[in-house]
Amino acid sequence: MKKKVSVIGAGNVGASLAQMIVQSGIADVVLFDIADGIPEGKALDLSEACPLWGSSSSIVGTNDYAHTADSDVIVITAGFPRKPGMSRDDLLNANAKVVSDVTENTSKASPNAVIIVVTNPMDVMAQVSFKVSGFDPSRVMGMGGILDSARFRTFVAWELNVSPEDVEALVLGGHGDLMVPMPRFTTIKGVSITELISKERIDALVERTRHGGAEIVALLKTGSAYYAPAAATYQMVKAILFDEKRMLPCAAYLNGEYGATGIYTGLPVMLGSGGVEKIVELNLNEQEKTDFEKSVSAVKSLVEKLSL
Ligand code: LAC
Repeated sequence: MKKKVSVIGAGNVGASLAQMIVQSGIADVVLFDIADGIPEGKALDLSEACPLWGSSSSIVGTNDYAHTADSDVIVITAGFPRKPGMSRDDLLNANAKVVSDVTENTSKASPNAVIIVVTNPMDVMAQVSFKVSGFDPSRVMGMGGILDSARFRTFVAWELNVSPEDVEALVLGGHGDLMVPMPRFTTIKGVSITELISKERIDALVERTRHGGAEIVALLKTGSAYYAPAAATYQMVKAILFDEKRMLPCAAYLNGEYGATGIYTGLPVMLGSGGVEKIVELNLNEQEKTDFEKSVSAVKSLVEKLSL
C-alpha cells in the first residue's frame, strides 16, 4: 500500500505540493479544503494528469476530515495569505484559529502522523499545532528554513554565476523578518562564501533573503509565493516517508538546545520517519548567537500574544 499524505488547504501552496507528490508518485494524497468544490476540482484535474505523468498515485479532494484518517504525514497549509504591506505576523490570530481547528480535526484521525505546518506565522503556528495535537514534539514541525535557504542559495548562485545545486546554505531562526542567514555555513562545494564574496555583497544577499517572501508578495499583489514553498515542503515529506535522515533546516521544538526551551524555531535537524529525529547543535559565534536570540525572542513575543 502507498503511504498517505493529507494536504490541508487547497490553495496555491497546497495544490502545488499535491501536484509534486502525485506527479512523482511517492504517495497517495488527500487534498482537503473547506471551500466547496475546490479540492474536488483540483484533485480531479490532478487525477486526470496521472496517466500522462505515468503515475499510479491516487488523489482525493474533499471537505470531509474523515478522508484524512490514518495519514502518514499531514501538511497544514490552510489559512489566510499575506497581502502587500503585511508581515507574516499580521496573520497571527486569524490563522491560529484555523490551525487549531485543522489540528484538532486531523490529529485524532491520524494519531501516528507527522505534522508539517506551513501556515504563517509559521513558527508560532507549529507551536499551536503541537499544543492542540498533544503529539510528541518530534512529530510536529514547521517548514521555513528550507525555503529561506533555497532563496539564499539562489541569490548566491546568481552572484557567483554557479549552479544553485552546488550552493549549500543555512538559514536559522524564525521564518520572519529577523531570520538568520548564516554566511559562514553557506558554501560552494565546501568553500564558505565568506572567502568568495565581499562582506558588503553578502550583507545585500542576506537582506534580500530576509525579505524574499515579501519581494514576491509585492510582485504578485494578490498572494504569496507558492512554487518554492511547495518544493521545500515536498523535500520534507519525502525525507519523512523514505526515512532519508536528511539534514535540513526546519522549525523544531527546542528543549534546552541553543539555550532556549519550549519554543519552535528554525534549526538544522535530522528528518526521518520519526519526524525530527535529532536537533543539530552548531557552534555559533557571538554575532550569530545575538542574531539568533533576537529572532527567537520575536517568535516568543508572538506566542505570548496567543497565551498558549
Ligand atoms: C514566504 C511565505 C510563504 O516566505 O512565508 O514566501
